[in-house]
Amino acid sequence: MTDYKEKFEKMRVAGKIASKTLDMLTDYIKPGVSTDKIDKLGYEFIKDNGGYSAPLFYRGFEKSLCTSLNHVVCHGIPSNRVLEDGDAVNVDVTAVVDNYYGDTSRMYEIGNVPVKAKNLIEATYDSLMKAISILQPGKKLGDIGFEIQSYVESKGYSVVRDFCGHGISNVFHEPPNILHYGSKNTGKELTPGMTFTIEPMINYGKYDTKVLNDGWTAVTKDKSLSAQFEHTVGITEDSCEIFTESVKGYTRPPYNK
Ligand code: MF3
Ligand code: CO
Ligand code: CO
Repeated sequence: MTDYKEKFEKMRVAGKIASKTLDMLTDYIKPGVSTDKIDKLGYEFIKDNGGYSAPLFYRGFEKSLCTSLNHVVCHGIPSNRVLEDGDAVNVDVTAVVDNYYGDTSRMYEIGNVPVKAKNLIEATYDSLMKAISILQPGKKLGDIGFEIQSYVESKGYSVVRDFCGHGISNVFHEPPNILHYGSKNTGKELTPGMTFTIEPMINYGKYDTKVLNDGWTAVTKDKSLSAQFEHTVGITEDSCEIFTESVKGYTRPPYNK
């Protein structure tokens, strides 16, 4: 089967621009910087690299990327909020290049964050990579959810139910939904050429969320800390390709070591 080679080539290009955007932003995501500044830097970088920020004007979203701080689960809107020592922030970038999408997010630690936050961030990253490690044709969508859920629940954390990963290609969000919880050997079977995101949102407390009056910002109901990492992946003949790996080797924080 070679009929997805061209699609993968385009996903690779879009994914790399998205991950390079997060790489570039690393030096700026520091105490004293506003999330609006991060948004502007991301917009410019993607534009300068021949792409466009997919979130901008997507369903009425008015910024180019998402910045989700502390108890914000996802879809945080960049603002004049300045990053402060102790904040944990997710930055979620989606670049569209030549009509194809690359979607990725990472957590960043601002100054010194509590060890509780570090542990949650580490477990969230590890859950994503554990799920990615099992990807191959014949596995099922439920296997992805099982990997993530069993790992983070063993540490006492919870998996957000209200948001999920998604198919992605020349459409930003398309079927199937990728749930981050589930049972082994259930759901749709993975086949070569499938492209989707895995983007677990893991809470320190309960999994319940609510959306604020701005219509976007999703927060934990119990105000507990939430963490997320996201990769865009494609299923190959025998495993998978990660389209959004860091070029600089920035996997999980701290990124300066
Ligand atoms: N990047 C997000 C995702 O992982 C979607 C953001 S849509 C926006 O699917 F409008 F909130 F930006
Ligand atoms: Co996504
Ligand atoms: Co995203």
